[in-house]
Amino acid sequence: MDLPEIQERLRPLFSGLFPAAVLVDVMQTASADPADMFPAERAIITGAVSKRQREFCAARQLAHGLLSHLDVDPSFPLLNGPDRVPVWPPGIVGTIAHGGGIAVVAVARAEHFRGLGIDVEPGEALPDGLEKHVCSPAESRWAKTFPIHEQGRALKLIFCIKEALYKAQYLVTRQFLDFDAFTVDPDTSSQTFEAVLRKPLPGFRAGHRFPGAFYLDDHWALSGVTIETISLSDYGHACYEKSSNYVSP
Ligand SMILES: CC(C)(COP(=O)(O)OP(=O)(O)OC[C@H]1O[C@@H](n2cnc3c(N)ncnc32)[C@H](O)[C@@H]1OP(=O)(O)O)[C@@H](O)C(=O)NCCC(=O)NCCS
Repeated sequence: MDLPEIQERLRPLFSGLFPAAVLVDVMQTASADPADMFPAERAIITGAVSKRQREFCAARQLAHGLLSHLDVDPSFPLLNGPDRVPVWPPGIVGTIAHGGGIAVVAVARAEHFRGLGIDVEPGEALPDGLEKHVCSPAESRWAKTFPIHEQGRALKLIFCIKEALYKAQYLVTRQFLDFDAFTVDPDTSSQTFEAVLRKPLPGFRAGHRFPGAFYLDDHWALSGVTIETISLSDYGHACYEKSSNYVSP
């Protein structure tokens, strides 16, 4: 399959990871055009290796296109903060990933969502030695339910889901997390998951459940996470349940 075909195939798969209020687009990084970046965006990656320049540029092209559908000023440059996280326009949340020659961006209005997270990984096995850093015992057991030749890819999906979770929660908490911060329970038949937060974070109690969706085949692992706008009952939990219990995996 060549890259344009990949793009056409992945677009509905990525959109299917999110509710309809989230706009998603994907492109091959090889067709990114640096002329489509604003000077302030280009300045961020001047001197970077060409692969990184193409990834960054493709994500900006996608973001500009999607943001135009949300009535954002077309001259808004999508810069990164000192922590590398994109600085989205006021009233907008978004998320970016690149990998395997493609870039993908998801955006939505902040009135609907507090956080979005997306990740894309080539569907290769998780490299040897990473399982114990990435997966809880329960997640490793889940991967072992796959046929032997697919178990490495199932572990890679856990990694992919945790990357999307990390990005989504960061927009709310601004906290760096390690891979043991969540325990992920994927449901292969519905291609959805629940991730349980194992320690309290600003705005979330330990045990908070984050829903998400994934896609896994021979070529790709994809994941998407949405954190909906806080409801009054969530807010009560966030404020008054000061649990410091660490939820066991
Ligand atoms: C931030 C991180 C997830 C990015 O992953 P990556 O494999 O380097 O790259 P990806 O292509 O998946 O994503 C890159 C994009 O993520 C976005 N990003 C970077 N830091 C981010 C953050 N803290 N929160 C949200 N998004 C972030 C950026 O938009 C970046 O693209 P850009 O530089 O072109 O704008 C990863 O580098 C990291 O720091 N992880 C922390 C450890 C972790 O994953 N823990 C899991 C806990 S559950």
